[in-house]
Amino acid sequence: MSDINSTALSHESIATALAKALSEIESAKNLDELKTVRINHAGDKSEIALANRTIGSLQGAEKAEVGKRIGEARNQIRIALDQRTDELQSEREESILIEEKVDVTQVLASGRRNSQAVGARHPLTTIAEHISDVFIAMGYEVAEGPEAEAEWFNFDALNISEDHPSRSSTDTFYLESLDSGVVLRTQTSPVQMRAMLESKPPIYVIAPGKVFRTDELDATHTPVFHQVEGLAVDKNLTMSDLKGTLDHFAKSMFGPGIETRFRPSFFPFTEPSAELDLKCFVCKGKSNKKNNCKTCRNEGWIEWGGCGMVNPNVLETAGIDSTKFSGFAFGIGLERTLMFRYGITDMHDLVEADIRFTSRFGLGI
Ligand code: DAH
Repeated sequence: MSDINSTALSHESIATALAKALSEIESAKNLDELKTVRINHAGDKSEIALANRTIGSLQGAEKAEVGKRIGEARNQIRIALDQRTDELQSEREESILIEEKVDVTQVLASGRRNSQAVGARHPLTTIAEHISDVFIAMGYEVAEGPEAEAEWFNFDALNISEDHPSRSSTDTFYLESLDSGVVLRTQTSPVQMRAMLESKPPIYVIAPGKVFRTDELDATHTPVFHQVEGLAVDKNLTMSDLKGTLDHFAKSMFGPGIETRFRPSFFPFTEPSAELDLKCFVCKGKSNKKNNCKTCRNEGWIEWGGCGMVNPNVLETAGIDSTKFSGFAFGIGLERTLMFRYGITDMHDLVEADIRFTSRFGLGI
């Protein structure tokens, strides 16, 4: 039998290792420290684990007794570790609650509910939706056409002659080459023909969309802008239906006090044709040489868009019997509408994606 009193298996050594472990567990200040203590006193290489490994050198009752003592010591260490883990864990949770405490009354008092910036939709999007809603309420459907459009839809089908100046490449963006037959649409009017070919009268459609012309960007022009096209084809439609519809449209955009007028004009796809003017909302039509008005240049009226009765040639091209049906159409610029509606004076504001501008319009209109 060996003399265990001088080895790691002695009563004393085990008691010392246990006492050391318990005191270190007790004084661990946080979970990280406790982790190190656990490795040192309960890990594979801890004093007690190493002692346990040499137990095989003992015999009989002694082996049993030492084994029991080591087992008990390990058990005590495990219980102490568990207890201290619980303590440190709740201490940590408590301190997190204190550190991360938010005084809700302070946040509300400062008016800062959400410090994250909230974006806004572009006013062109909201006005297009608003206009669509006005017409949907009158029974219209929203129609669409491609931005890269066949020259035929953009010009020929609309009774625009082959030598019309608007076809020239100084006005129109041609894709690929001049004879490719494909242009970036210069107006939303080609949607008229697409709508007439797709369905039979009665037809009531509204088509907001992007259009392109070879203009330089300045305070009143942009090469990419937006129009809304309207088309109605039915039995017995007259110019007064057109006037009533556009009057309602104008009132829904600019308020019940707005006045409209038709001024004779010419478009190849309408006959008769008219320019739609709005009574100048700045001078209310009262400007003169003494009372200068920059907005209408003393005209008293400002141009909003074009309109007219659909030319019978256009109806016939779409296969619609022009002796049975008549139609009216109109096209209005969305940028102009926004400029009038909100007093925007520079096109750059509408084109540049500056959120200081768009956020002024909020989410609604
Ligand atoms: N497409 C024309 C333009 O861009 C506007 C227009 C005029 C549309 C008369 C129409 C219309 O539907 O009937 O200048």
